[in-house]
Amino acid sequence: MARHLITSAIPYINGIKHLGNLVGSQLPADLFARYQRARGNEVMFLCATDEHGTPAELAAAKAGQPVADYCAEMHLVQAQIAEGFGLSFDHFGRSSSEENKKLTQHFAAKLAENGLIREVTEKQMYSKADGRFLPDRYIEGTCPNCGFESARGDQCDNCTKQLDPIDLINPHSTISGSTDLEMRETKHLYLCQSKMKDQLEAWIDSKTDWPVLTTSIAKKWLNDGDGLQDRGITRDLDWGVPVKKGDEDWPGMEGKVFYVWFDAPIEYIACSQEWVHAGKGNDWERWWRTDKGADDVTYTQFMGKDNVPFHTLSFPSTILGSGEPWKLVDYIKSFNYLNYDGGQFSTSRGRGVFMDQALEILPADYWRWWLLSHAPESSDAEFTWENFQASVNKDLADVLGNFVSRITKFCRSKFGEAVPEGGVYGAQEEALIADLTGKIRAYEQFMEDKEVRKAAQELRAIWVAGNEYLQSAAPWSTFKEDPEQAAAQVRLGLNLIRLYAVLSAPFIPGTSATMLAAMNTQDDSWPNDVPAALAALSAGHGFTVPDVLFGKITDEQREDWQQRFAGTRD
Ligand code: MF3
Ligand code: ZN
Repeated sequence: MARHLITSAIPYINGIKHLGNLVGSQLPADLFARYQRARGNEVMFLCATDEHGTPAELAAAKAGQPVADYCAEMHLVQAQIAEGFGLSFDHFGRSSSEENKKLTQHFAAKLAENGLIREVTEKQMYSKADGRFLPDRYIEGTCPNCGFESARGDQCDNCTKQLDPIDLINPHSTISGSTDLEMRETKHLYLCQSKMKDQLEAWIDSKTDWPVLTTSIAKKWLNDGDGLQDRGITRDLDWGVPVKKGDEDWPGMEGKVFYVWFDAPIEYIACSQEWVHAGKGNDWERWWRTDKGADDVTYTQFMGKDNVPFHTLSFPSTILGSGEPWKLVDYIKSFNYLNYDGGQFSTSRGRGVFMDQALEILPADYWRWWLLSHAPESSDAEFTWENFQASVNKDLADVLGNFVSRITKFCRSKFGEAVPEGGVYGAQEEALIADLTGKIRAYEQFMEDKEVRKAAQELRAIWVAGNEYLQSAAPWSTFKEDPEQAAAQVRLGLNLIRLYAVLSAPFIPGTSATMLAAMNTQDDSWPNDVPAALAALSAGHGFTVPDVLFGKITDEQREDWQQRFAGTRD
């Protein structure tokens, strides 16, 4: 049995995420976690809310709430929506946890001990209008690298370069819009990533199986200009992990907190401690400490491309720099962006479909299927309502849904609500089984390789094969001449429903459960042996005809939704 540690990038606390965020991290991570569990492997699937930093402070202020209360409330909202989408986290933690505070302070102490932290007195943007030092992302200006005009002080969204606010041309405060910014002195801690460049480069070079998207972004910043830059890991803010060296005060750093990007990935580890403290398990170290059994763990991370520099360079610097035997990531699966109907999803303008709204209009499986089968892997992808309607109506309703409904209804009308007996499988059935065996093995390989779109295509092909069989075997005609043969065909069809439920569960878990329930079975074992799997339901086994699995999306609904989600939320 293999052991899989799986993390999804942890979503910011401020607000509900849109479908583009979902398909770039949590959803494919869930697909992989569900698949590995279905294969009988041991899985630890972790996610959390990313709660520190100015975005949380500002969102709380806007909501008129203390920031801790705001975060507690929004955490529950996000947890509930995640559950609605069937995201099967073993734990959904919080980066503001006590566990993460302690662990973050621990890592800082270790890094300092190892000479990887230096104190820098620097001048930083202070906004008189806002009465505060401005965090990097609240300063915008023109990117010195690509000329993009709305580059943020921490990173340019256009070229992904990690920036310092001082680099920006024509900077202004995005909180007040004020350009009355002045440089004031303040002291900060810097992580000496430059000292770790060679080690990081060798590590990344050794990952020949990573997606090109991941390695190309990593290499770009590894060799940017003079090479990997040291990064400030503290901020002048109230809300965050107080800067301490383990349990000890850090002279000169009073009143400061760690930068949110320093503590957020550490939450991946802290989350497993929260899992223990929540009574869900008793040993987190066997997942994270290579000296405590984690050396046989395969660790896979899922994230959008904007997160790649932090996971290939910054977080590994923390891990490696600690000098302690922490588990490093084995595979980083990154995604391009999903666009929305000819433009971008926009949180501020409410453009596009947000996770809560999606669940209000259709069950999770409709979204899961479309998003995963169109995952932005090799390039950016686009959500259009026409495409969504076509996929749902064809793949889900016409192919899978129709198959289930035809077989179960035909059986009920001619043989009753139990698997019919009699007849034997002939050449056509043998051919189908051979075809399915090949396709299932291909599907497994795509799932192992985290090739999300290809896996979806293969699964669809598996559904189509069953439909084509049914069409050509035509038990409704066979029945007139040879009821025994029709019985064998229907028996195979009912078994296919169970098989499809098992294979499809990582993509559409809700529907899969409905199919298994209709087949009156809890046998969801993986079809390692396909002929045996297709004999799991034997003659006499009772079943029920399920309600329609997927309703078709009408043109009217499509137009209505298109308008409703065009922009300007509330
Ligand atoms: N909150 C970040 C985002 O939504 C992701 C943080 S991932 C972590 O882009 F590694 F830092 F935790
Ligand atoms: Zn740029």
